Amino acid sequence: MTFENRDFRTFEALSEVKEGVASWKAPSNIALVKYWGKSNPQLPKNPSISFTLDNCRTETKVIFKKVDKTTDFQFSIFFEGKEKPSFRPKIQTFFERIEVYVPFLKEYYLEIHSSNTFPHSSGIASSASGMSALSLCIMSIEKQLNPTISEEYFTKKASFLARLGSGSACRSVEGGLIAWGEHPFIKGSSDLYGVSLPFEVNEIFHDYQDTILLIDKGEKQVSSTVGHQLMQGHPFAEQRFKQANQHIEELSKALINGDLDTFIRIVETEALTLHSMMMTSYPYFILMKPNTLEVIHQLWDFRKQTEIPVCFTLDAGANVHILYPKNYKEKVLTFIKNNLIKYCQNEHYILDNVGQGSVFA
Ligand code: DP6
Repeated sequence: MTFENRDFRTFEALSEVKEGVASWKAPSNIALVKYWGKSNPQLPKNPSISFTLDNCRTETKVIFKKVDKTTDFQFSIFFEGKEKPSFRPKIQTFFERIEVYVPFLKEYYLEIHSSNTFPHSSGIASSASGMSALSLCIMSIEKQLNPTISEEYFTKKASFLARLGSGSACRSVEGGLIAWGEHPFIKGSSDLYGVSLPFEVNEIFHDYQDTILLIDKGEKQVSSTVGHQLMQGHPFAEQRFKQANQHIEELSKALINGDLDTFIRIVETEALTLHSMMMTSYPYFILMKPNTLEVIHQLWDFRKQTEIPVCFTLDAGANVHILYPKNYKEKVLTFIKNNLIKYCQNEHYILDNVGQGSVFA
């Protein structure tokens, strides 16, 4: 079933709830076809597809207590045990965006406790897992107020709310392969929330591995907000959006058929195109580091020599995600340890794989 904006505004409180706790663990995700460029409110310029990860997660607990309805949101935010006033503006903006869909928010004082399973300074964006976990907690409050909502409504609305916090977060609610953005090949797809791919994905992709090489753990040079804006008036924008749409169809077919050659071609093209967009915008940015390129070249040599179907993708930063089927895990990890770890900052890397999605914690 597809939902419209108005479907998510039909909130009705059937129970009285004075206080309670909601707690979720949401994973990060890695895009295979990239979301880069958006319009208001948080609508993607092109559809994207991602692998939901497993080990990189944000765990969020919301303790809520009924208060008299006030004119502003009442909340405090703790990250890894410490109060973080610096996180407030982002959460405040998020609450303002979602208020019409969850009008009960202002009737509660929310104490938000959050922590990540991956190091904070790893250069891994926690906005996807963080916004997804918080949205699921808010949906758990809605469910306590209205126990009649369906599981499907719960999941889709959680993804819808997460999108309003951070676009890619809408792909972190469910597991496996997720598409966000309308595309004729993906039945049920929507610009408003992420959906599980509506077809049988070849089993080789069910437990795909992602080893994340932490090349540069510094602060992001370009925030995603600035990054997406770079696509406005970008000389190659229209062509890029067209290409992403074509890639969605080609990648979907490769996912069905287990066609690893096509998978590799599209995933690497997407990563390099994302960075090309940043290099050809104004202002322009180079987010790859010399070690990013070293890793890519070594990986290509290894693939050529061994014919092992391993490939890379990139986020809007210097870190490299190495993607490969599970049956090559031992060989690829030996290669990574012997040849690539030296390019990582402090030799740090993270082992991850496709996961089952968010869990109630
Ligand atoms: C390069 O989801 O972080 O990771 O909607 O502004 O929060 P906002 O952007 P965000 O952008 C992610 C961009 C990307 C590609 C992707 O994940 O699809």
